[in-house]
Amino acid sequence: MSDTPIPAAVTFEPQAVSTQAKRSAIFIVMTIKPDAASHATVRAWCADIAGLVRAVGKRIPDGGLSCVCAFGCTAWDALFGAPRPAGLHPFREFGAGERHAIATPGDILLHIRADQMDLCFELATHLMSRLGDAVTTVDEVHGFRYFDQRSMVGFVDGTENPVGNEAVHFTVVGEEDPQFAGGSYVLVQKYLHDMAAWNELSVEAQERIIGRTKLDDIELADGVKPTSSHSSLTTLDENGEEVKILRDNMPFGRPGSGEFGTYFIGYARSPAPIEQMLENMFVGRPPGNYDRLLDFSRAVTGCLFFVPSASLLEALAERDPNAPANRN
Ligand code: HEM
Repeated sequence: MSDTPIPAAVTFEPQAVSTQAKRSAIFIVMTIKPDAASHATVRAWCADIAGLVRAVGKRIPDGGLSCVCAFGCTAWDALFGAPRPAGLHPFREFGAGERHAIATPGDILLHIRADQMDLCFELATHLMSRLGDAVTTVDEVHGFRYFDQRSMVGFVDGTENPVGNEAVHFTVVGEEDPQFAGGSYVLVQKYLHDMAAWNELSVEAQERIIGRTKLDDIELADGVKPTSSHSSLTTLDENGEEVKILRDNMPFGRPGSGEFGTYFIGYARSPAPIEQMLENMFVGRPPGNYDRLLDFSRAVTGCLFFVPSASLLEALAERDPNAPANRN
């Protein structure tokens, strides 16, 4: 992780990456049809997003509506040509067999958040109708906040997230990639849980897996907290300094169908720390000392995207991937 500060003169305002946790979210992952007309539709849409968020959000000003729009590696090249954000690449898989962080298709991610699902739903409806048949939705998840910010597995989620300036420092690209300053990387994975098996564990066994107490969400003491706990394996140290990411996971599910899930979403200034966490969880640190949460949770999707700054997102509408300056 670079220590490079974000230049003071940066006018690249980030999209709504580090908003406060909201009660509802919609996650939509799409692929783009591979023809020039569909690409042109998506590019033009980039300039419409902010206006639609304003228009829908205005109807319930306290609802906290926001939207983050991000693009995958292949889509970036096809839609916008060169240059491409320095860290953008296809999702890297980790692990194998039962414990496998798989890669699945995804060209565009929409992360819509608000305190009311109707706001998220209305915005998603407008955004998707403008895209029409230029895209195919490959995954759509409607997430909800579970009581006092509990994850599906019953533990409070998001406690150790960075806040304020620290959140900006860990999520917003700065001088290390000046053309993409104000942007972020975002990695998503949809997990399904075996809740029957998880609920058979004692609370103490669950606490050793997460690394925190269940009722009051206190970190287990050193010496008690196993090195295989989720919290240990996702804590990264680089030259004595902790490297953080910003998460806003949401529970989702359909009890009538036995589906219980967590939609993991992590933002960072580079994909590297999120990928390191995945390696620690799925392969283990050291290898074999893996995250036991994965004995009860299966990743069924995995995508990496780049979130352009708000101003770049709007400007991308005018980008011509075939112009000599943008050719790969
Ligand atoms: C099965 C899906 C997951 C569930 C249910 C889950 C749940 C939790 C819970 C309950 C905590 C403790 C409270 C907190 O600090 O937020 C936590 C911490 C954390 N999780 Fe996850 N998580 C999941 C997947 C992931 C993945 C895939 C990553 C990274 C690639 C990740 C990264 C982190 C980090 C960085 C922390 C904070 C660690 C610390 O500083 O103590 N989580 N997670």
